[in-house]
Amino acid sequence: MRYRERALCAPQKEEPVILGIESSCDETAAAVIRGRRLLSSVILSSAAEQAKYGGVVPEIASRAHTDAIGEAVERAVAEAGLTPASLDAVAVTYGAGLLGALLVGLSFAKSYAFALGIPLIGADHIRGHMAAAYLADPALEPPFVTLLASGGHTAVIYTESYTRFEVLGSTRDDAAGEAFDKAARVLGLPYPGGPNIEKLAREGEACIPFPKMFSGNGYDFSYSGLKTAVINYCHTKEQKGEAYSRADVAASFQSAACGVLAERAVAAAKAKGVSALSAGGGVVANGFLRGLLQEKCAEAGLRLVLPEKKYCTDNAAMIAAEGLLQYRARNFADLTLNACAHIPLGKKGKIVG
Ligand code: KG4
Ligand code: ZN
Repeated sequence: MRYRERALCAPQKEEPVILGIESSCDETAAAVIRGRRLLSSVILSSAAEQAKYGGVVPEIASRAHTDAIGEAVERAVAEAGLTPASLDAVAVTYGAGLLGALLVGLSFAKSYAFALGIPLIGADHIRGHMAAAYLADPALEPPFVTLLASGGHTAVIYTESYTRFEVLGSTRDDAAGEAFDKAARVLGLPYPGGPNIEKLAREGEACIPFPKMFSGNGYDFSYSGLKTAVINYCHTKEQKGEAYSRADVAASFQSAACGVLAERAVAAAKAKGVSALSAGGGVVANGFLRGLLQEKCAEAGLRLVLPEKKYCTDNAAMIAAEGLLQYRARNFADLTLNACAHIPLGKKGKIVG
């Protein structure tokens, strides 16, 4: 491959400039980093359009990406104060996500990298959420433990090195974000569910004793019991004609859902003997969870690395950060790189990478 050969032969700069592109769901995003320094981040979202339908409609997402991708990339490069010629590589999310949506970013990234004669890097969206921590704290070095809580995944992961990981525990059913979205639906809150639950919870008290999820085994999670408890609570009250506070339900749900995330993550970090815990994924934008993590990490003497809220939900800075790790590992893709709807997280207890 032309760009691959060029990349391997070119004199290596210490701080590569990487363009990240993300289009796996309803955010069209582009960002530029120089080493672990973020130069620009542009996020154009179709969430308002999707909200009319109560969730993400794949075809609407793909069309919105097609409309926005050129602008997102152009702005990210300009806002970084650069021209395309200064870029050393293009990293793009190739999965997991909606196939049609992924293909928009992927096709754009392939053409862009090919035209510039620079390497193309395929980034795993979930590894991107994990890599956001490297931008949040440029001094962060493995080993550390990561709490990952997004719309599709919930896991506690041991990062052994920049590219080697071990899943210590994961969800046995719904992901944390999915549970937030389902609870929001029960409470009649609009899409996106997570931020709306958080907003409503501020007006209520966590006074309903919803069951603590999955008190057993290691660092696994389970959200189906909590989800059922929320549904049963609301339905029973409605059937009996009894008034109840939706804000209290939101606060009680949030407290139960976040409590276990923080407990499990801190316990895993302590058991692994690491000095730092990082966190990533949309649910980590939740202020209540961030507070809990801060409290528990302070008690345990752990350094907490929390990306800013806008780098917890989908963005391209995290994809550029994951691209940097792959760039340093010389892990380049070629033009056959395809979109992938699912990418396994890895088996529990087994190092992957
Ligand atoms: O990481 P993300 O943006 O996309 C995926 O990769 O899945 O995560 C989206 C999930 C959604 O389920 C959304 O409801 C949840 O993150 N989320 C939140 C908050 N912001 C986004 N959950 C709780 N509180 C929030 N503030
Ligand atoms: Zn995500």
